[in-house]
Amino acid sequence: MKFSYRVNTLEENITEKILASGFGESGIISLAGGTPPLEIPRQYLSRLFNLTEKNVKISQYSSDPRGIKSLRKQIANDLSEEFGFDISYRNILITNGSTAGLFAACQAFINQSDEVLVFSPHWSVYRSQCHLAGGVVKEIALNENCGWEIDFLTLHKGLTNKTKLIVISDPVNPTGTTFSEKSKRQLLSFAKENKQCILLVDETYRHLLAPGVKFQSLVKFSKSTNKIVLCRSFSKDFSMSGFRLGFVYAPVGCIENLARIHLAMNLMAATFSQELGRILYKSKKQITDKYAEEYHKRRILVCDRLDELSDFFSYVEPIGGFFVFPRFNFEMTSIEFFQKALKLGVLIRPGLEFGAGGEKHIRISFTNSTVNINRAFDKLKGLTMI
Ligand SMILES: Cc1ncc(COP(=O)(O)O)c(C=O)c1O
Repeated sequence: MKFSYRVNTLEENITEKILASGFGESGIISLAGGTPPLEIPRQYLSRLFNLTEKNVKISQYSSDPRGIKSLRKQIANDLSEEFGFDISYRNILITNGSTAGLFAACQAFINQSDEVLVFSPHWSVYRSQCHLAGGVVKEIALNENCGWEIDFLTLHKGLTNKTKLIVISDPVNPTGTTFSEKSKRQLLSFAKENKQCILLVDETYRHLLAPGVKFQSLVKFSKSTNKIVLCRSFSKDFSMSGFRLGFVYAPVGCIENLARIHLAMNLMAATFSQELGRILYKSKKQITDKYAEEYHKRRILVCDRLDELSDFFSYVEPIGGFFVFPRFNFEMTSIEFFQKALKLGVLIRPGLEFGAGGEKHIRISFTNSTVNINRAFDKLKGLTMI
């Protein structure tokens, strides 16, 4: 079989490649996962299955490929409240996770050889999606010394007349940080000044915040929405990753085009997932607060354990999502660190996976239990002997 050039644009995932080579032993403790482990309370799942008794056909296609209207309306009302201006359900497209929304946006905006500015470190899938669309990825290093904030001088330097998209996640996977209001406002002005630039904003971890963190979406500061495509997800906030549900908020004309691309790739999001999304969204605050609280307990534990190893690690305090991204001061690359940790029985993610800006770091996830987090750190202490 002769594959298209597109297949060759996809990088192999470093971590998966090393694991596939049989590097790891059995009994490894994973601090690498991005899958939310918390269970969806049974009462909500029962309500989903009870829908069949009310003759809702959860196993069939839903009628509108843009998503079930009532779910789109629920989301639009919720965003109107959050952003402080009116949003119509026509501004919402229900997607197959935020991944499909991001993918559709890359396909919709990137022409061959267009440049895409991606803040680094970043979730590696952004690179694949840009490459598949024919774009050229330019990594814009975030400033770790300023809490992983945007360095606008570096951003300006990265800009050319070919720049089409700027991709930003907030809260950030892998750093667990969020951007300041000042940075968000400045980024919006930057996009406004550079008319061809669209901001592709990924808020997949929107609700998993540390107590007291007041997250404000970049969209909230924007008077005109014609520069922004916002992608959100049910995967992490509602612990629904296997249901594959997300949504895009964008101008109506943009939604129509994204919907055509989404349809070509996915047809539509699964009906039973959308119905569960509707059920959970009704108790959104209660559910997401509970998950956020649970992750915060694990966040505190991971940070405490890192603090015990402060001769070797430093990190910017994580306040969103379920990752921390410590810098290590061992004389080795992040891949070497990853391999050594694996030999000790702990799986982490090497920083390089998140772009050049991630080197000399590792990503630690708090999705494992507190018992396993402690066991993993006990093992990682072995690294300090080398
Ligand atoms: C930053 C970021 N965006 C998007 C996703 C994917 O989300 P979804 O499950 O909604 O496709 C992930 C998953 O790890 C992620 O870390």
